[in-house]
Amino acid sequence: MSLFITFEGIEGSGKTTQLRYLQKHLASKGLDVVATREPGGCAIADGIRALLLDPGNTTMVPHAELLLYSAARAQHVAEIIRPALQAGKVVLCDRFTDATTIYQGVGRDLDFGQLEAINRFATQGLAPDMTLLLDYPVRDGLQRALARNRADNIEDEGRFEMESLAFHERIREGYLELARRDARFRVVDACGAEQEVAERIAAAIDRFLETGE
Ligand code: TMP
Repeated sequence: MSLFITFEGIEGSGKTTQLRYLQKHLASKGLDVVATREPGGCAIADGIRALLLDPGNTTMVPHAELLLYSAARAQHVAEIIRPALQAGKVVLCDRFTDATTIYQGVGRDLDFGQLEAINRFATQGLAPDMTLLLDYPVRDGLQRALARNRADNIEDEGRFEMESLAFHERIREGYLELARRDARFRVVDACGAEQEVAERIAAAIDRFLETGE
């Protein structure tokens, strides 16, 4: 059974940790799971990721940024995601097209109609079956992202992590608004112990697998 699930949320919302929990949960049911992330997920897209997340690239214009995220996605979909789905696997992806809609649309003020067209072009029409939006307070998320960077010995913050609290509040609100308009989303309260959040997500996925809702 092929299934495409994406994770979205602000920086430090716990997407990556929760993706690992869900990967284990689904594997324990005997499903064949591929875990991947954007930007990245394959060699060409990882090269583009390094360009995108380099805080030194301060002169990158928003439309160049958009095209780089989209180029990385085009390669990732063609090389990793679509073949895995065609082979009947479950694909879990840390961020996907909604991140472009929100970070480039709400964050960088690019036109939503154009973003939709570019997303469709990059994915060649592939859309997630379900999107888990991990909702988490901005201040706590940024603190968590900063602590993680320090633990990984990354001195510079990512380019979006350097943006103001107000910027990230707009991102959080943008995601919630998108989720209200699209039934593909499940909004998950990402506050509390990792294990508790993982249980909330597992319950939502089990329900989806059993009832399609
Ligand atoms: P992450 O490791 O927190 O997921 O970092 C990826 C960063 O890239 C994050 O700041 C969001 C940003 N991003 C976009 O702006 N547009 C996109 O399409 C994607 C996938 C990520």
